[in-house]
Amino acid sequence: MTILAIETSCDETGVAISQGGREILANQIFSQADLHALYGGVVPEIASRNHIIVLAKLVESALAEAGLTKADLDAIAVTCAPGLIGALLVGVNFAKSMAYALGIPLIPVHHIHGHIAANYIAYPDLEPPFLCLVVSGGHSQLVDVRDYTDMTVIGSTRDDAAGECFDKVARVLGLGYPGGKALDDLGRGGDDTAYTLPRSTIDGAPLDMSFSGLKTAVLNLIHNTEQKGETLDRPGLAASFAAAVSNTLVPRTMQAARDLGYETICVAGGVAANSRIRRDLEEAVKREGRTLYLPPLALCGDNAAMIACQAYFEPRPGLRDNLDINAYATMAI
Ligand code: KG4
Ligand code: ZN
Repeated sequence: MTILAIETSCDETGVAISQGGREILANQIFSQADLHALYGGVVPEIASRNHIIVLAKLVESALAEAGLTKADLDAIAVTCAPGLIGALLVGVNFAKSMAYALGIPLIPVHHIHGHIAANYIAYPDLEPPFLCLVVSGGHSQLVDVRDYTDMTVIGSTRDDAAGECFDKVARVLGLGYPGGKALDDLGRGGDDTAYTLPRSTIDGAPLDMSFSGLKTAVLNLIHNTEQKGETLDRPGLAASFAAAVSNTLVPRTMQAARDLGYETICVAGGVAANSRIRRDLEEAVKREGRTLYLPPLALCGDNAAMIACQAYFEPRPGLRDNLDINAYATMAI
């Protein structure tokens, strides 16, 4: 089964083609990051307008990369939720039109299901059930993945997502947007004990997390240091911040794996690219004799390959079953 997938939930326009789910024949991404960097964050209308401009060309590029024509496609898949509503609507409408015109089924995919599926591409033998730590710009969740489309959130952030926090701190340090990777790089040589930063816990919900206190503490620290005319140890702060985020995520992930009795732990989402979190997870998993699957960096952030892969595992729709689907800014997993 050959599926062409469209991903437009935020500021990356993605078109990819999968065969039999896990084999990716094409993976085209147009990143709008430079356009949004001017404003220090994603401007939803600009994202939507750029998806409109590049989608048709990316479809042509993906078909050329795969050496296929539209006639070779068996289905069209699209991210329908969650995300920026205007951006999602562009992708959903384009996908719907394509499926309608080609007379092939349309498969809606939940963006987080897609992030988790990035692991199936990287590891052909990986199968549910497993525990997945999902950490992106909009989500920080521990997910019990019982089957390809049957999953439950068992722990999540009560406020900011981890990626949101990385971006905010990076922005105040003048590292641009999105700044997660730049902050990660800055912290690599830094002393992770340079600054004492808070780690929040939620009473009665040991798997839930909170990052807003950490974010505020770091922002106050930066401003106070500036006001006093002192020099900020920037690599030390970046390393201390990454350690605080990792110390929040990793013990909860291990606790969840123990609670559910899972040997296998996967990670997904843009923040899964973070070097400190990857290293800490590797060490923790090794200590407990479990197995860790980390997606390659190229598949951590938003892309359509993960949507093309997940679509294969979604229920097979009839020809006209999904022509009335809509896009949603939020949707339970
Ligand atoms: O999954 P993703 O591409 O988009 C969403 O669905 O949100 O995640 C984007 C997030 C951004 O906040 C970005 O700064 C963060 O992932 N990110 C990182 C790293 N690379 C990307 N955060 C920390 N360390 C990194 N190396
Ligand atoms: Zn994402």
